[in-house]
Amino acid sequence: MSKVLYIKANAKADGGSRTFQISDSFIKTYKENNPNDEIIELDLYDVGIPFLPKGKLGELHEAVMRQDKNHPVLKYTYQFLEADKYVIAEPIWNLGIPAILKAYIDCVAVGGVTFSYTEKGPVGMCHNKKAINIITRGGDYSFEPMEDLEMADKYLCNIFRFMGITDYSTLATDRLDIITEDTQALLDYAVKRANEFAQTF
Ligand SMILES: Cc1cc2nc3c(=O)[nH]c(=O)nc-3n(C[C@H](O)[C@H](O)[C@H](O)COP(=O)(O)O)c2cc1C
Repeated sequence: MSKVLYIKANAKADGGSRTFQISDSFIKTYKENNPNDEIIELDLYDVGIPFLPKGKLGELHEAVMRQDKNHPVLKYTYQFLEADKYVIAEPIWNLGIPAILKAYIDCVAVGGVTFSYTEKGPVGMCHNKKAINIITRGGDYSFEPMEDLEMADKYLCNIFRFMGITDYSTLATDRLDIITEDTQALLDYAVKRANEFAQTF
C-alpha cells in the first residue's frame, strides 16, 4: 500500500481551477486503480502553509535534532518524508511556482530530514519515491526563447531531485490563455492524458 501526497497550490477554488480539473481527474483514476492506497490531500491555502518563522531558525534546528514531528514546520517535513508518491497541481505564476508552493518547499526541504549535508555536499534522503507535476500555463513553453524562461517545472524538478526524488514526471498543459485556442479541447486532451498516466503511476 502506498501513501500518496496530493499537493494543491492554487488560490482558485476547486471548481474554478483548470489545473485542479486535470489533477482531480488524475487522482480519481489513480484511486480506481489503487483502491488500497492512502491519498492525503494537502491544499496549501486551506492549511495555511507558514513562512519560515522570523528569528526562530535556531529553534527549528533544535526541533530537527529532537525529531519533533509536531513542530508547525516539521509536521509538513515529516509528512513529506513519509509519503511514497507525490502529485503536485500548480499553475505557472510569473514564470515560476506559486509563492505558497515555494513556502511549502521551504517547510519540506529541511537539512537533517529530507536531505543531509555530507563531506561531498548535500545528499537527498527521500529514496524510492516518485512524483508527477501537473502544471498548466497560459503561454507556450515548448520552444525557445520561452522554454528558457520556464522556471516553475524546472525548479520543482530540481528541488525534488535535490531531496533524492529522481523519478519525476511532468504533465504540462500549455496555451490555455491564447485566445485563438480551443481551451476546452486542450483541457479534454489533458484530462485524457492524466487518466492514462494515472493508470501506471
Ligand atoms: C498571478 C498569475 C500569474 C501568471 N503567470 C503566468 C506566466 O508567467 N506564464 C504563463 O504562461 N501563464 C501565467 N498565468 C496564467 C496561468 O498559469 C494559466 O491561466 C493557468 O492555466 C491557470 O490555471 P488555473 O485555472 O488552475 O488557475 C498566470 C496567472 C496568474 C493568475
